[in-house]
Amino acid sequence: MYNSPRGTTDILPADQAYWRYVEQKAARVCQLFGYQRIDLPIFEDTGLFIKGTGETTDIVQKEMYTFQDLGDNSLTLKPEGTPSVCRAYLEHGMQNLPQPVKLYYFSPIFRYERPQAGRYRQHHQFGIEALGEADAAIDAEVINLAWQFLGSLGIKRFNLFINSIGCPQCRPTYHKALREYYAGHVEKLCADCKVRLERNVLRLLDCKQPGCQAVAAEAPKSIDYLCLECDEHFQKLKNYLGLVGIPFTVNTQLVRGLDYYARTVFEIQPEEEKSQSTLIGGGRYDGLIETIGGKPTPGIGFGCGFERIILNLKKEGIVVAPVPSPQVFIAFLGDNARTEAIKLASSLRNADIGAVVTTSPKSLKAQLRQANNLGIPKAVIIGEDEVKAGVVVLRDMATSQQSTVKPADLPGLLR
Ligand code: HAM
Repeated sequence: MYNSPRGTTDILPADQAYWRYVEQKAARVCQLFGYQRIDLPIFEDTGLFIKGTGETTDIVQKEMYTFQDLGDNSLTLKPEGTPSVCRAYLEHGMQNLPQPVKLYYFSPIFRYERPQAGRYRQHHQFGIEALGEADAAIDAEVINLAWQFLGSLGIKRFNLFINSIGCPQCRPTYHKALREYYAGHVEKLCADCKVRLERNVLRLLDCKQPGCQAVAAEAPKSIDYLCLECDEHFQKLKNYLGLVGIPFTVNTQLVRGLDYYARTVFEIQPEEEKSQSTLIGGGRYDGLIETIGGKPTPGIGFGCGFERIILNLKKEGIVVAPVPSPQVFIAFLGDNARTEAIKLASSLRNADIGAVVTTSPKSLKAQLRQANNLGIPKAVIIGEDEVKAGVVVLRDMATSQQSTVKPADLPGLLR
């Protein structure tokens, strides 16, 4: 007996309605905002993530599924979508298209994390990326799309947090202030944060350990160190969000766990916030495309985990329409009737009507029970008498009402 690998789940037929619902809402909102779908490989050259996602991130340090293929190439199962989209943008000359290029994707994502509710080793993301636009209006548009998406799903209780972490010009001064502050509190930090202090001081603000959080609460804030341009950008973003009526909270401890972010970062949390419950996380990454070999190109986007969205839909009691079942179940009694049943099912399917036939002979009662279990609304019953008379019995499964009809009339009646 094998089980699915730790941190992975099977998406069973009973859950498919939720997955299709989320995917359709995501595709619809992207269409409304003019974002186009892109599908990318499940693995990429490992270097893309080392450079793109960033060497000091937890993802690159300890979470990647990396392997050598038989041609001795180092490949990595996608631990996030953003570097792949940027790679495709460069590879396919999208910088020559009218900018911004606005893309969305659905992708399985692989991270060797400690599994718990809402955190998996394989999860699935809906993500968007807008490339080639520096104006804060696109930051607001990306956040607006995320907001509309959650609203269209029927999720009600969620909050938006935003922050600006500055740019390569103003960040060194801020980092220096942070390092000076933390130097006086080293003994209160967890072991991981002591390492982070050396590697990437910004990440200390993000630690979920209570001791570290208490120190972070008093730390210098990036928004107090922004250069003029970054400050203007942040003010504009807040104005644009106001224009479209999206409420937000500035959370000065929000830094996000990826190296490429600059200026805007944001997260959308369900109301009862837990560290592993962020529904949507994103931000601006103006240096990323240059890091992987392109010309300096601004970009912003977000990622959203399907699994967390579906957990929240269920928590809020949102019922989604089931995946439609076939319209008709064809029950038969006797060998001649079976031949007619197989032919009839085939002609109905050719007429675009879903039809199920029992594959091994059963009693009529057992066949109708099967139709009920499958949620099929109508049954056609064929016995030896019906074969002789060239008719069939059409039964409504909910009311048990039956009528005798000609097979040729069935497509019209079932539609
Ligand atoms: P991220 O914050 O690492 O960002 O992930 C985005 C979202 O994916 C999270 O908010 C969460 O819903 C979901 N997620 C992440 N890890 C897991 C997990 N282990 N199990 C279940 N769900 C998870 C990114 O990946 C960036 N690429 C987002 C982005 C796009 N930034 C700019 N553009």
